[in-house]
Amino acid sequence: MKPKKIGILTAGGDCPGLNAAIRGVGKTAIVEYGMEVLGFKSGFTGLIHKEYVQLKENMLSGILTLGGTILGTSREKPFKINLNGGDINKPELIKENYYDLGLDCLVCIGGNGTMKTAAKLYELGLHVVGIPKTIDNDVWGTDVTFGFDSAVAIATEAIDRLHTTANSHQRAMVIEVMGHSAGWIALYAGMAGGGDIILIPEIEYNVRSVCKKIEERFEDKKSYSIVVVAEGIKVPPKYTAAGYIAECITTYSDIEARETRLGYIQRGGSPTAMDRILATRYGSFAAEIIARGECGKMVALRENQLTTIPLSEVENKLHLVDPDNKLVKKCRNMGVSFGDEY
Ligand code: F6P
Repeated sequence: MKPKKIGILTAGGDCPGLNAAIRGVGKTAIVEYGMEVLGFKSGFTGLIHKEYVQLKENMLSGILTLGGTILGTSREKPFKINLNGGDINKPELIKENYYDLGLDCLVCIGGNGTMKTAAKLYELGLHVVGIPKTIDNDVWGTDVTFGFDSAVAIATEAIDRLHTTANSHQRAMVIEVMGHSAGWIALYAGMAGGGDIILIPEIEYNVRSVCKKIEERFEDKKSYSIVVVAEGIKVPPKYTAAGYIAECITTYSDIEARETRLGYIQRGGSPTAMDRILATRYGSFAAEIIARGECGKMVALRENQLTTIPLSEVENKLHLVDPDNKLVKKCRNMGVSFGDEY
């Protein structure tokens, strides 16, 4: 039987490109396959409480370049056990609502947590397709998630600006970028922004190495340094990554350091052209695979080819930077430190 009615939701932290993905799914489903499309509000919360809108084709016009998500999002995890009791069985409610609304498939756009929930819903018998998004680029099974390119562009612009003020004051500028437990944003923005030291969770650093590098640069008549740190690097309790590294530099070297935490700016605003294209490709491809009856899968990109991977293979894994990653090697060959030299 041909799928006639599908639902879409966006869950987890937002990122640039979500609307492009909603538009990609919706327009392809409606225009190419004549499906009806429901958009659930605030991630899985909308599915639990049956809060949705019917997405008409004209409602999907004009949203491609828009940041955030027109559907809203939340960190609702329906399978998480509520320790305070509570008598609503969220997975059962979702199942009930799914059948009650006559859905043939549900598209879950999200990161690792969302893919995990999607895999569990599929196990419960619902037809589900996942689309990977996150600025962190840490979803396993795909080379890249949308949102990542935009975050890298924003972080790179910020690093560019730090160069001039660092130069004027002859300082070490420590900039902290997001990424959760992955160092993708730090690595890419560090390379694009000409970072002198890049610290990522996947490569263990030591403070001595960081300070030595900065002092060597100073002796080499390079009067300032840019240190790009991922939020997930190990630091003592109560410290932020940037705060700790800046304090160490100030304490253990003769160079003055300042910290910058980029924060949510990395997740806001309009997606880059690359993210618009990737999100559109993922969205449109998701509608295509639904139309041919596939489900229980996440759409993915491998070597620039669209493909799918079973949701069961994605859950509970992380896509992290390999310490031998080609970009890491290129950076090292050019004298960039990863804080592990001494
Ligand atoms: O979207 C991913 C991410 O930005 C992480 O890098 C960050 O740690 C986390 O989300 C914080 O988001 P929130 O405050 O919305 O939970």
